[in-house]
Amino acid sequence: MALTIPTLREGSLTLRPIRARDARALERELIDNRSWLRPWEATNPRGALVFDVRASIRSLLNNAKDGGGLPFIIECDGELAGQLNVSSITYGSLSSASIGYWVSQRFAGRGLTPGSVALATDHCFRELGLHRMEICIRPENRASLRVVAKLGFRFEGLRRRYIHIDGDWRDHFCFALVAEELPQGVLHRWRNGQVPPGLGEPDAAAWAAAETPGLSGDSTGHTVP
Ligand SMILES: CC(C)(COP(=O)(O)OP(=O)(O)OC[C@H]1O[C@@H](n2cnc3c(N)ncnc32)[C@H](O)[C@@H]1OP(=O)(O)O)[C@@H](O)C(=O)NCCC(=O)NCCS
Repeated sequence: MALTIPTLREGSLTLRPIRARDARALERELIDNRSWLRPWEATNPRGALVFDVRASIRSLLNNAKDGGGLPFIIECDGELAGQLNVSSITYGSLSSASIGYWVSQRFAGRGLTPGSVALATDHCFRELGLHRMEICIRPENRASLRVVAKLGFRFEGLRRRYIHIDGDWRDHFCFALVAEELPQGVLHRWRNGQVPPGLGEPDAAAWAAAETPGLSGDSTGHTVP
């Protein structure tokens, strides 16, 4: 089932479909923000990734054609600010998906990412009929942990050596929402101050686990700032 990628708006924030002609502007942002993005970027366990923005856009759009994802550009007042990808869309008895995101450093702290996650999740629940949305974050990524805490994504647990990021397998905290727990929608619940306190916060046991070295072979030896 080919997916139509919608354009979603709230105030100065626009979430719109990625296009082949975004390649040049996107490449510029990715190059200008190398040190900002690198610690959190997915890498290839088999070797260096080829940095080919055009190919990556093609692959995202093909995935959308196959019904597997929704690739968005995040815009602030019409300017390209970052990306949000809904990926791993499954239907049927799972009806689930994951979200990943980034914004350029100069757009950080304006609430663009929580707004984008809320818009995309509400779209997936309401228009695609998905049931569950998941976001996984390295324990070290305090800024990203604030995004799920603001929106009240429920903390589910620690996944050891879950995603290959910045050159190694990294532990991740997993957060999720299911559609039934917020009939009013993610954006509405957040904007109306109705997110239950503490819902998106990992518990003390999870932090303690994240601070201890993980499975054997984990060379990262996480420390939590
Ligand atoms: C994580 C990230 C997407 C958050 O996006 P955002 O649009 O800035 O989100 P918010 O505006 O809600 O800010 C979230 C937190 O970032 C931190 N922050 C704010 N301004 C910041 C700045 N200029 N520089 C660094 N961090 C900042 C604050 O802790 C903020 O939480 P607060 O609002 O409670 O103070 C963004 O920091 C980013 O792109 N980082 C690099 C890539 C990345 O980490 N991707 C996510 C991988 S899971």
